[in-house]
Amino acid sequence: MNAISTFAQRAVLSAVACAAAALAMPAWSQVDPSELVNAFESVNGKFSGFRRSGAKGLCAMAEFVGNAEGRALSVSSAFSGKAVPVVARFSMGGGNPKALDNVKSQRNLALQFDLPANETWLMGNISSPVFGAATPQQLLGRLASLTPDPETKKVDADKVKAFADANPEVLLQGKYFASQSVPASFAKVNYWGVHAFGFTDAAGKKQFGKWVFEPVGGTQGLSDEEAKAKGAEFLFDDLRQRVAAGPVAFDFVVQLAQPGDKIDSAVTPLPDERKKVTVGRLTIKSVSPDATGPCVTINYNPMVLPKGVEASSDPMLAARVAPYAVSLGRRLVEGPKQ
Ligand code: HEM
Repeated sequence: MNAISTFAQRAVLSAVACAAAALAMPAWSQVDPSELVNAFESVNGKFSGFRRSGAKGLCAMAEFVGNAEGRALSVSSAFSGKAVPVVARFSMGGGNPKALDNVKSQRNLALQFDLPANETWLMGNISSPVFGAATPQQLLGRLASLTPDPETKKVDADKVKAFADANPEVLLQGKYFASQSVPASFAKVNYWGVHAFGFTDAAGKKQFGKWVFEPVGGTQGLSDEEAKAKGAEFLFDDLRQRVAAGPVAFDFVVQLAQPGDKIDSAVTPLPDERKKVTVGRLTIKSVSPDATGPCVTINYNPMVLPKGVEASSDPMLAARVAPYAVSLGRRLVEGPKQ
């Protein structure tokens, strides 16, 4: 064997070893978090000080009271039955702080439960039962396909179609929003956690489930004409008025997985017929009168969980941690807004 072929052989072997190592690495560690945040900026634009996703939002102070069904599911002190203070943030999906309020798109409800013994539970929930990608790699590919060409400043429709044809999961969320009417209010739409989480009871039994925050009194949508008449900026004042006029509350509902259900996917809801339990109620107590408030500098990292609740192996869940930290770092340096 001559020196060249030995070298080539070694190169091939080392490439194979690298690929094998990459396969063994968790999905979240295979995508550079800065690259993901850069991709959000390329698609949405870069707005100094704002979150790179969920940019247009407002803070609210809330209270959560867990119930006996919650205590049966998990030992978490969130379900003790005593009122727990919550720092909430309602927002529009995407990185544009001037996102239109009257279109069929994503709304978010992020929550920080301040639990006894210095425990914190953070979550960022969205108004769709599915996310727009199954893995961080797929999200990066989708964002790359949506990035405008630097010369023409136009998105290449063929590129978008080719990526979506090869990755049909990325269309599920858009199809869901298209099937729904524009929500009448931040207070009148469901917010799903999208990932599965494990709940551990006092006997140590673990039950996986997916949660949704459902408005007490039901959801409400606008007709196309009503949405048009509302204009692009109505959601913040609407929420302030509703909370001033009377209680705005959401039931925390957990749908229970059964053995064999897919619990590692943010694009696959549990089967409809799975049992749902209501584990407590979130009541919005006040809404920030302006763009300030304690939520502005919070990073709603969904892997910050209390004792009694644990992450599933959904690759999208762990993949959120580092990009959120990168986004927070950038906006803190720029001067955090909204
Ligand atoms: C790898 C996948 C994801 C990436 C890279 C990503 C990226 C981001 C970033 C950069 C932020 C802004 C963070 C900050 O500045 O504090 C954010 C916010 C948010 N994301 Fe994600 N995200 C991902 C997956 C998801 C999923 C699966 C959901 C569905 C539940 C979700 C829901 C939210 C919500 C609700 C917010 C707004 C939170 C707030 O008000 O601060 N994200 N995301």
